[in-house]
Amino acid sequence: MMKRRSTRVFRDDEIAEPVIEKLIDVAVQAPSGGNIQPLSIILVQSKEGREKLAQLSGDQPWVRRAPLSMIFCLDFYRLKAWAKLCETEFQGEKAINHFLIAYADLMVAAQNVVILAESLGLGSVYIGSILNEIDELRAYFEIPQYVLPLMVLCLGYPKSTPETMPKLKREVVLHRERYRIPSVEEIRKAFDEKYGPIDENVDRYLQKSFVEALEAERLEAPQYLERVKKEMKRLEIRNNAQFLFKVRYPTKVMVRLNQRLAKAFQRAGFEIF
Ligand SMILES: Cc1cc2nc3c(=O)[nH]c(=O)nc-3n(C[C@H](O)[C@H](O)[C@H](O)COP(=O)(O)O)c2cc1C
Repeated sequence: MMKRRSTRVFRDDEIAEPVIEKLIDVAVQAPSGGNIQPLSIILVQSKEGREKLAQLSGDQPWVRRAPLSMIFCLDFYRLKAWAKLCETEFQGEKAINHFLIAYADLMVAAQNVVILAESLGLGSVYIGSILNEIDELRAYFEIPQYVLPLMVLCLGYPKSTPETMPKLKREVVLHRERYRIPSVEEIRKAFDEKYGPIDENVDRYLQKSFVEALEAERLEAPQYLERVKKEMKRLEIRNNAQFLFKVRYPTKVMVRLNQRLAKAFQRAGFEIF
């Protein structure tokens, strides 16, 4: 688990069916709140499906190249139908509590797949950006009401060893017995140590701090990197936080996405916003 890194450059080799079955089995076996298992997984292996998934994830080149992707869906359709059959009612689509627990279920199951995949020599990467395209995903993959595609996991045999991403030090994350509010200086130090200073040379900086840049180059997808560089220049990015919250996840855009998400949820029959 300490060696695991997100893999974005995959070999073309298929993943054998017995291996896929094992990966699904550990997802099904994962802990589940109340053991109600509100999870469905759609496997995507076809060229056409992979292309569509790549488009709907902001054109991330590795999604197109991964031989296998799993769409993790929060599935209340099955539970609602079962409850009805049993002459009762399940209204998870209206209950934030059910939603949060189900989302936790989803991620616990997905992480089981990540860990087993790693131990079998496979690499994986989560694709969270599909949240921007829930309507389109539901339409293309014929996902019914009360089912939300919320996470994608791309899998394949790694072609190269990805860079190790910097992480916060243990002491930064750890609180003992009570939460201890860090000082401004401690916060500055924590992130300086994580990222190091931003470099004058944008190329060198990206190679070091934005592993996707290196991987896009390996996949000969220069347009991906060009987009990022142009934005960095336009916004005169001077440090890592600015890079994260102005370029990658611009605060205003993220807040505006609420509306889009709320509508997609409503169209899927969810009324939790
Ligand atoms: C919830 C979640 C969403 C993610 N979404 C994406 C994504 O859309 N595209 C991508 O290339 N990586 C994505 N990642 C992978 C992260 O970029 C990666 O975990 C992070 O850079 C740390 O690198 P490491 O996994 O190699 O430690 C996601 C990871 C998580 C946990």
